[in-house]
Amino acid sequence: MVTVLGNDIERAKSLLDRGELVAIPTETVYGLAANALNEAAVLNIFKAKNRPQFNPLIIHLPFWQLVKQYVRYLPPAAQELAMHFSPGPITYLLPKKDILPDLLTAGHPKVAVRIPAHPLTLQLLRSLNYPLAAPSANPFGYVSPTLAQHVLQGLNGKIPYVLDGGQSSIGVESTIVDFEGDAVVIRRLGGISQADIETTLGKKVQVAIASSDHPVAPGMLNSHYATQTPLVVGHAAQLLAQFPQKNILVMGFGSMACTPGYNLSPQGSTDEAARNLFAMMRQADAAGADLIVAPKLPHTGLGPAINDRLLRAQHHQK
Ligand code: TXA
Ligand code: MG
Repeated sequence: MVTVLGNDIERAKSLLDRGELVAIPTETVYGLAANALNEAAVLNIFKAKNRPQFNPLIIHLPFWQLVKQYVRYLPPAAQELAMHFSPGPITYLLPKKDILPDLLTAGHPKVAVRIPAHPLTLQLLRSLNYPLAAPSANPFGYVSPTLAQHVLQGLNGKIPYVLDGGQSSIGVESTIVDFEGDAVVIRRLGGISQADIETTLGKKVQVAIASSDHPVAPGMLNSHYATQTPLVVGHAAQLLAQFPQKNILVMGFGSMACTPGYNLSPQGSTDEAARNLFAMMRQADAAGADLIVAPKLPHTGLGPAINDRLLRAQHHQK
């Protein structure tokens, strides 16, 4: 199969209407989309990504008003968050209706729902009469794509079309929020910070991040976002001194020395660092180094979401 790259929404729609896969731009990362109501099409997402079927998918809709067609109940806290943050980098876990195939949610009673904020994808979604199921458009376990070119690096020849919407403006995946009684629980750190969610709700929320050891949400595996080149989260200067003979690349932040290597944000902005993170991880991975060293970012803004990605990238190498 030849993979075509372009910005033709009509072409994307007609492929999706026929049950084909199309990579779509979002403000977080590119998604690998199919008709969420078509089980055969959804199965093809898992196949193209090599993704285990116990790992459920997010559905994408153009408006919050449509969510109630697919979920049985909307908790007030979800409504409140949606008024502030959707469209945007936040995903809600909500009790699913039967019209959604079980494959989509891996048999889980809740479905993950998101309204993405990218103009091309919103226009596409508005033209469809079904939601789009879309995980990140990378082979399972590898770094998520923030450019159409990244999608091609992993899926060229496996999908017919990549809708090119430029660089993802946020750069890390959506924050996933769950609702248990009156409690709001963050299941994945992402593009909306915990502090912003707490300010909006006027109360503290729990953070229960799943991992392979504590799989609160199925499929939130440790070995995600992994580069081929071993990546270590740690103190750059110490490691450089410890292994003087090794070809080490630094992926740093702010005023720290990052030569040889990359600086996620010389001005020390966690928003900018999130935007650069996955592209720089890919560049570092392609540079033929022995080791990538990434110091942790500060715990402000999107810092915790970035640190989560770095730690998962590291886990794989052990
Ligand atoms: O920003 C994003 O969320 C991107 C863009 C494309 O929208 N999507 C994305 O999808 O990151 P994916 O499949 O790479 O990650 C979705 C995560 C998975 O870790 C999955 O386990 C969790 O969401 N998830 C999905 N449905 C769930 C459910 N019903 N219960 C618990 N966790 C769920
Ligand atoms: Mg992913």
